[in-house]
Amino acid sequence: MVPTRQTPARGSRRARFAQWFGAALGALFATGCAETQSALDPHGPAADAIARIGWIMFAGAAVVAGVVFYLLLRPVLHAWRRPQPAAVVVEEGSTRLIVWGSVLTTAVLIALFSGTMLTLASIAAPYAAGTLELEVIGHQWWWEVRYRHPDTGRTVTTANEIHIPVGRAVRVAVRSDDVNHSFWVPRLHGKIDMLPGRTNRIVLEAAEPGLYPGACSEFCGLQHANMRLLVIAEPPEEFTRWLDWQAGPALPPTDALTRQGQQVFIQAGCVFCHTFRTAPGPSPAPGGAIAPDLTHIGSRRTLGAGMIPNTPRHLQDWIADAPARKPGIRMPAMDLDGPSLQALAAYLEGLR
Ligand code: CUA
Repeated sequence: MVPTRQTPARGSRRARFAQWFGAALGALFATGCAETQSALDPHGPAADAIARIGWIMFAGAAVVAGVVFYLLLRPVLHAWRRPQPAAVVVEEGSTRLIVWGSVLTTAVLIALFSGTMLTLASIAAPYAAGTLELEVIGHQWWWEVRYRHPDTGRTVTTANEIHIPVGRAVRVAVRSDDVNHSFWVPRLHGKIDMLPGRTNRIVLEAAEPGLYPGACSEFCGLQHANMRLLVIAEPPEEFTRWLDWQAGPALPPTDALTRQGQQVFIQAGCVFCHTFRTAPGPSPAPGGAIAPDLTHIGSRRTLGAGMIPNTPRHLQDWIADAPARKPGIRMPAMDLDGPSLQALAAYLEGLR
């Protein structure tokens, strides 16, 4: 007797499994298609070289794996076709196999090692004199970015976003202010350690204008996964305009709401941690190394080091209770009433 009740149950279970499997496969392909932060989608000379050696390694590993699996399966198939004592199969020609195996292994290792060394040498190529230089300092859990203005020599400080001129090599000096971090923008270059007390350097170059997301790639504490950054490659004249603008002071408030916001900003004590340049010369507030420079906060795309979009609504939420969004960060929840919060967010969003 066929149990008629079980048939539809089994059928629906199979259908459900097929649905789940399809959805999982779809999700997998969707993540593969985004490619916004993939080392396999290079957009600069260093990333090109790294992707190339990556593919060569993959092809080499595939060939080696193929040969190994063939050699493993060969005696099994042989014994299956012509049954005989296993010991005989193993002994036949085994010395020859060992010798050839050692020779081939050595050759493959030397070839891949040489390829890696040549790639390392090519991406560590010396840069031309007059190359634009910038400094990136890792903090738990955000990025401080410092430029030296080529005309005035003044330091221009921003956070979490790095603007670079497209098609030009930019020398990036990285270090850390606290624990070990690692700077990685996969589509432009490989990883580079950011260590306290030591400066490492890489040369970034973007072949095309665009947004290149990056991330901290060394575990650095509770919010390691939320330590993201964005490289913005733009035409050289646009980059120069941006740098000139960032070198300037913060815009003054323009109406009653933003004037109130500026008062809140000063009275609530934001300036004790955040640098804020109001006029040329030294900043009246300490900071910069404590918390992100807010002089042009309104011109940035994200808040919380790439966590959320920089909109008035998100900014209000962030100021009201940043630790709820990003547990462990040093910024405290601000005890402000609704209107003060709104005015403060309006003022900061106006700091373009
Ligand atoms: Cu910084 Cu992980």
